[in-house]
Amino acid sequence: MSSRRGALSTAEARWAGLGPYYAMFPMDFARAVVAEYCPPNGRVLDPFAGRGTAVFAAAREGRDAVGVEINPVGWLYGRVKLKPASEPRVRSRLREVGLLAHDVSRGQLHELPEFFRWCFGPGVLRFLLACRQHLQWESSLVDGTLMALVLNDLHGNLGRALSNQMRQTRSLAPEYSVRWWAERGMRPPDLDPVALIEQKISWRYAKGPPSFTRQRMILGNSVDVLPRLRRSAARFDLLFTSPPYIGVADYHYDQWLRLWLLGGSPVPHHANDDTMRGDFAHREKFRSMIARVFTEAARLLKPDGVVYVRTDARPTTLAATREALESVFPEMTMHAVRRPFEGRTQTHLFGDREAKPGEIDLVLTQTQSRGVGRIRADQRFVGNRQARLAA
Ligand SMILES: C[S@@+](CC[C@H](N)C(=O)[O-])C[C@H]1O[C@@H](n2cnc3c(N)ncnc32)[C@H](O)[C@@H]1O
Repeated sequence: MSSRRGALSTAEARWAGLGPYYAMFPMDFARAVVAEYCPPNGRVLDPFAGRGTAVFAAAREGRDAVGVEINPVGWLYGRVKLKPASEPRVRSRLREVGLLAHDVSRGQLHELPEFFRWCFGPGVLRFLLACRQHLQWESSLVDGTLMALVLNDLHGNLGRALSNQMRQTRSLAPEYSVRWWAERGMRPPDLDPVALIEQKISWRYAKGPPSFTRQRMILGNSVDVLPRLRRSAARFDLLFTSPPYIGVADYHYDQWLRLWLLGGSPVPHHANDDTMRGDFAHREKFRSMIARVFTEAARLLKPDGVVYVRTDARPTTLAATREALESVFPEMTMHAVRRPFEGRTQTHLFGDREAKPGEIDLVLTQTQSRGVGRIRADQRFVGNRQARLAA
């Protein structure tokens, strides 16, 4: 407990943990990779940025960085933690939304599927509908910061989050959840949402907000966004990323309740073939998507740049990722660093406890540049401390 307190004694450490998300990098690991493979004042690119861990790690190590993320939930966490709005402005916006919640009618609550009335008390549901309707989370930093804080605790342990008992990381299927609550007679908590979020604000801002302005998160599909960066951005020294794992996560379905709060459907959908799931649920689509992203990323990399990719050790994702990297970077030397299953993998936090071979880091350098010996030293970062902190 004391080490956890110590680890959270700076603004950066508190905000680093913002956003329960699947398969995130441990922060210590991300900082070590940046420190090792990106020169001081260099630039880092993460085209599958998730909740922005690599970008935030780069910021903490004094490097510039750009992250691209297709899922607005991950994007918002990543963007907000770099430079949250000021605490007084977020508190004042929270009170405004709290007042606007009184205008939400009983009829609006009843238009929602039954799941919502099992998950949230009526006061909380009114508040969430007001957030959904009024917060301009994409364009306003104040609204985005408040929305990120609400998303963070939208669901989780009873009494500590806005919902009935639920996992914090992942939204569960509605039918399953309702059955589970009904069997146990668990009603949603009757709590004051404004008071709960005020407490969360106090904790999050206790050491102040970080203020990283040279790094940025872009919302969009890297296939489209990276070509645009060629016109504007300086070249990158380190391509540091972790693509989705085939068939392991559907970032759309697994975040459906948070996506609803951002304006999405009140019924979960598996992303269909032309959106996210189609790209990584099927091997060929996955391979073609990551090959396109790496091809575009290669054009943004300096001639002596390094590529560092963490991926699933299971054969399907690993083979597809290796093939894509080999075809895009034929001149570079690839080293594989196995990350055996020690402690928790990136996916363990998500409730995925089945035995698995762990993760593999594929490190590509210009031939004869940085050696395997130094890469091996990174293995001490296998333990997923950040994941434990966020749990
Ligand atoms: C393994 S996660 C990355 C997690 C990240 N390393 C972190 O620490 O939070 C992969 C991410 O890639 C995103 N993604 C998938 N396809 C994408 C695309 N075409 N463009 C941008 N992001 C994409 C997913 O939404 C997911 O958040």
